[in-house]
Amino acid sequence: MKHLLSITDAEQDIFEILELTAKFKADPHGKKHLKNKTLAMIFEKASTRTRISFEVAMLHLGGNPLYLSASDMQLGRGEIIEDTAKVLSRYVEGVMIRAIKHEDVLLFAENSSVPVINGLTDKEHPCQAITDIFTVYEYKNSYNVKMTYLGDGNNVCNSLLLACALVGMDITVVCPEGYEPDQEIFKKALLYAKETGSNIEITSNVYEGVKNADVIYTDVWVSMGDEAEKLQRLIDLNDYQVNMELLKQAKPDAIVMHCLPAIRDQEITDEVMQSSQYAIWDQAENRMHVEAALLYKLLNK
Ligand code: CP
Ligand code: NVA
Repeated sequence: MKHLLSITDAEQDIFEILELTAKFKADPHGKKHLKNKTLAMIFEKASTRTRISFEVAMLHLGGNPLYLSASDMQLGRGEIIEDTAKVLSRYVEGVMIRAIKHEDVLLFAENSSVPVINGLTDKEHPCQAITDIFTVYEYKNSYNVKMTYLGDGNNVCNSLLLACALVGMDITVVCPEGYEPDQEIFKKALLYAKETGSNIEITSNVYEGVKNADVIYTDVWVSMGDEAEKLQRLIDLNDYQVNMELLKQAKPDAIVMHCLPAIRDQEITDEVMQSSQYAIWDQAENRMHVEAALLYKLLNK
C-alpha cells in the first residue's frame, strides 16, 4: 500500500492495519517510530476529529503534524494541485488531505512522491470506515455481524460498504430512492463480498433493513458541500431517523454508531445519542489509533 485514497488501496492490508491498531491502542505512547518525520495535513473543509486525531497520533509517534488550511495556501489563489504535490514532497514524509473533490486527491497522489492519505472527499472516508470496522470488532468480537446503515448513501456509506465487504461483515444500506451509495463502489463491494461471504443489500424499507441488525449506523443528512439541498434532504430523509422506536426492530444488544458530527433530532435523536453508551465515543477515540497504525505503515520507511 503506497497511499490510502480509497478503502480499495487497503484490500491486501486491512487485517494488518486492524492488528496494528490494537497494538497502538494498547500502548499509544510507545516507540517514537516517526521521529523527525512530518505529516502535512491539508484541509479544504472543516474538521474536528480528523484534524485532532491525526495531529495527536503523529505526536504520539514522535513526528510533527503540520496543519494547512487550503484557503491560506497558494492553492486557494490558483496554484495547481500537481505543483503543490511536487513541492510538498520535498518538505514532508506524508500528506493527509481533506478535499472537496475526490479526483483532486487522486491527482495529488499521482504527483506526490510521498504517501497520501484521504481524510475525506465527496466520495470516500476510508480512515473513518477502517475505524468503524475496528470498533465493531471491539464490541462484538467478530466480523460476522450485520451492520445497518441508515440515511444518505454518502462518502461514509461508500467506504463502509467496501470495508464491510472486505472483512466479511454484512451490511444493509437503508435509504430513500435517489440517495443510494455510488454505483461503482457498490459493484466493487459486491466483488469483495463474493470472496468473503459478506451479504450486501440496499433497500428503502426501514423495517426490513433494521431487522436483526447488530450495529445501527447513521451519518448526517446534509454533508459538507450539500448545504444548498438542505431543505429537500430533510424532507426526503425524514423517515430514516435513528430513534428509540427504530432501535426496537434491531437486536436487543445492537450498538449505535455515528462518525460524528451528529445533528440532534435530524438523523439521530438526542435520546439515542444519550443512551448510546460508549460505542460512539469509542469510535471517535479509535480514529486516533487507526491513524497511528496507518501513519506507521505508510511513513515508517
Ligand atoms: N468523523 C469525522 O471525520 O469528523 P470531522 O469532520 O470532525 O473530522
Ligand atoms: N458525510 C459527512 C461526514 C463528516 C465526517 C460529510 O461529508 O460532511
